[in-house]
Amino acid sequence: MSLIEGKKARKGRLTAPELSIVIPTYNERGNIAALVDAVRSALGDVPWEMIIVDDDSPDQTFSEVSRLAREEPRLRCLRRVGRRGLSSAVIEGAMVANGGAIAVMDADFQHDERILRTMYDKLIGSNADIVVATRYAEGGGIGEWDAKRAKMSDFATRMAGMLVGNQTSDPMSGFFMVRRDVFSGVIYDLSQQGYKILLDIISSSPVPLKIEEVPYTFRTRQEGESKISVMVLAQFLFLIIEKLTHGLVPPRFALFSIVGGFGLLVHLLILNALKLAGFDFLAAQLTATGVAMISNFVMNNEFTYRDRRLTGLSFIAGLVLFCLVCSFGALANVGVAQIAIHQFGNWSLAGLAGAIMGAVFNFSAATSLVWRRPRKRIFAAAG
Ligand code: GDD
Ligand code: MN
Repeated sequence: MSLIEGKKARKGRLTAPELSIVIPTYNERGNIAALVDAVRSALGDVPWEMIIVDDDSPDQTFSEVSRLAREEPRLRCLRRVGRRGLSSAVIEGAMVANGGAIAVMDADFQHDERILRTMYDKLIGSNADIVVATRYAEGGGIGEWDAKRAKMSDFATRMAGMLVGNQTSDPMSGFFMVRRDVFSGVIYDLSQQGYKILLDIISSSPVPLKIEEVPYTFRTRQEGESKISVMVLAQFLFLIIEKLTHGLVPPRFALFSIVGGFGLLVHLLILNALKLAGFDFLAAQLTATGVAMISNFVMNNEFTYRDRRLTGLSFIAGLVLFCLVCSFGALANVGVAQIAIHQFGNWSLAGLAGAIMGAVFNFSAATSLVWRRPRKRIFAAAG
């Protein structure tokens, strides 16, 4: 097996890599040089390559990588333009990896690169499919996290347990090593949208994977800032929905519908409040509809379309467009319900058909008109 042969690699020569380290980056310019040094000394004679997948960072992390790669040929950069996302970056990085083992880690030194060697030896030595670097096993830790972040992580880890049981103590870890054939085996099942690539790999595998762990303590970020945000929560929900429905329900649509259901609650609440306040029905209904549309817009902007979030003037324009779209959605709803009532004669069935039509119409119009896929980002003097 080529993994073993790599151990014989001689120093000072460019050898075929046995271990490919895939590192997603977004604005990590200040961390790269030190990271390459740290990995170099951590891995010793293991033949490695490092693939940095940079999403066209405004700080031009990609040009820093190119600069360093002239001195260190084991280093490469895959620069993606017009794209964002941690999971898809990792997947594409793994696709160009040549090693029999693929490690995934962050660029900000929170993942302790000094355990890479132990992880690699374990992957080969124990014939494991995956080695997870864990914060939640004996000998590991979450470092200097505040109580809130620790709680969030704990909650997410429990949620993840719904999908993968107790196969690993840290399913949310962004630091792990996997055999390339195992990775290739699940490639078609991975959610490109997700953030939790490890969880995704484990839950996508048709057979239970042999998982080993190496504990470590999560460090504080060296340079730059975290990209973790509400976005991460939204994407986490996406992944859970996609996996639990076996890909039948597009996660974005599921989230859009949940927001819609929430909007209905808001609507009824306001309607009743205004009734108590003595408004007449039409005025109350109009107000409730308006407020519900605005709250739906805000929630969709925060969660469903987090990755394309509108701000400033585009927020206002988007809101107006969204209200227009919803009005047409209401028309589509009523139109279909009208046809259905003649067909089936059943009010509930016709109402349901109309509601589904309305939701699907609103969703597709919102996706293609209000929260359009961003076009290319332009910035001065790309290197
Ligand atoms: N290419 C690319 N595209 N890289 C990204 C993107 C993106 O859209 N967003 C973040 N990254 C890179 C960062 O540059 C960093 O190298 C790594 O992904 C992790 O991002 P952070 O913003 O530092 O995430 P974190 O520290 O909050 O979360 C980490 O720890 C969690 C455990 O609590 C990640 O490793 C998570 O996967 C992990 O669950
Ligand atoms: Mn980080």
